[in-house]
Amino acid sequence: MNKLILTGLTLLLVACTASMDPVDSSQRVDIEEGEVLQLDARPVLNTIDGIQFSMYGYNGQIPGPTLRVKQGTTMKVNFTNHLSEPTTVHWHGLRHNYKDDGVPYVSQDPVLPGESHLYTLRFPDAGVFWYHPHIREDRQQNLGLYGSILVESEDHDNMHEEFLMLGDLLVENNKNVLYGESRANFALMGRFGNLLLVNGKSTYSLHITEGESVRFYITDVSNARPYNFSIDNTMLKIVGGDIGNYEQEFYATSIVLGPAERIIAEVTFNQPGEYHLRNTNLWQSYDLGTIVVSPSGKTTEQELASHQDVIADISNYTQYFNKQPDEVMHLTIAMHHMMGGMHSTTSIEWEDTMQHMNSMMSASNVRWIIKDEKTGLENEKLTYRFNVGDVKKIRIINDETSAHPMQHLIHLHGQRFLVLEQDGVKNENFVWKDTVMVPTGSYVDILLDASNPGEWMLHCHIAEHLEAGMMSSFIVGDSTAELSQHS
Ligand code: C2O
Ligand code: CU
Repeated sequence: MNKLILTGLTLLLVACTASMDPVDSSQRVDIEEGEVLQLDARPVLNTIDGIQFSMYGYNGQIPGPTLRVKQGTTMKVNFTNHLSEPTTVHWHGLRHNYKDDGVPYVSQDPVLPGESHLYTLRFPDAGVFWYHPHIREDRQQNLGLYGSILVESEDHDNMHEEFLMLGDLLVENNKNVLYGESRANFALMGRFGNLLLVNGKSTYSLHITEGESVRFYITDVSNARPYNFSIDNTMLKIVGGDIGNYEQEFYATSIVLGPAERIIAEVTFNQPGEYHLRNTNLWQSYDLGTIVVSPSGKTTEQELASHQDVIADISNYTQYFNKQPDEVMHLTIAMHHMMGGMHSTTSIEWEDTMQHMNSMMSASNVRWIIKDEKTGLENEKLTYRFNVGDVKKIRIINDETSAHPMQHLIHLHGQRFLVLEQDGVKNENFVWKDTVMVPTGSYVDILLDASNPGEWMLHCHIAEHLEAGMMSSFIVGDSTAELSQHS
């Protein structure tokens, strides 16, 4: 018998003998100061459109528990790994201690099957954050390991709130297309699923009454897929992004977000009827779910607010807006089997239009690259050094002439930044961010507020690109001595 069949059989046996519980939907957990949350990762059975998928859940839920905390809270998470593979939990967007950041070998050792790890979390910023593994995201996160964290400011106003975690699964013959065993497959473009999920299901629905407003906290938890999100016949009032609110709220009929980015959008439904959530791109339009609005005869006026606290905070940084870039990074690729020029026709890859080839490209024959212009250093060899309190302008250039041009989602751990401009077009309405989409052939200037000491990662959030090497680091702090003082 060949080895593949044997592995298949073993997997099948494991799947049958380990009694896997059906998945639960995300439960809301309100966290008090000093609280210890018990969290685990374990296999779950998720039935989608009548098909059973063996997936992973935090506390048996997809998404994992939705944590709600007050800004400034400190809490602990006692995490246990009930998977058969090592994992860690990364708390995306938190400016907390780098030793609690879940990065393997930098923050901690991987949590092996059956082991536990205690995280201490701090929440200095209000906004919507999320958590996910930082080992083999291409498989673990794709299988359901993600959850939202809402950090409420003192003046958080309660309204009907909905968390939408947008993900996808790649399904063929009623099965989840296999993940690369030792290294990620789909390393070229990332795994674009063909089954689009909201909160781990294909059947998102919401029932409200006419005149009601809903605040949506939207996170792209896909490996690679960008979304152009809209709700039929409504205007989205865009209130916030990755880390808190925009300076100025604005209306949009649709909004684009890529892996790891967040959007806070409020919508008032002043007409009874059925509304569809959609993802519409150049090639496809997907129905993501339904909102049914029952009549009440009430209407509500919507207004655009400006957020003075955000404006005041950001005004401390305007003095740096026009400086020359301190650092310049290039995003590119090296392929072992070159296959001639492939030029994308748009600056964003909305779908995988070359799935067969993509599936065969593994992290061992594709290398995605972050390259520092000054030193020529690449990926894990590149470590930027900043002092605590530095404000640095970083230009990120996405090389259009590389062998496979594609957008990247550049994420910096543990800090916040402003997106100052893209291709010379200056931004005029700011929001603090931790992840930015850099389309093909574009450059983006970010202004990094390097205020949180530690050793941090900088990487593309397309899970397969990260697996294929697209990862560097930066140190904030003068010396390791200083770093250990803070840990
Ligand atoms: Cu959400 Cu290192 O990433
Ligand atoms: Cu990338």
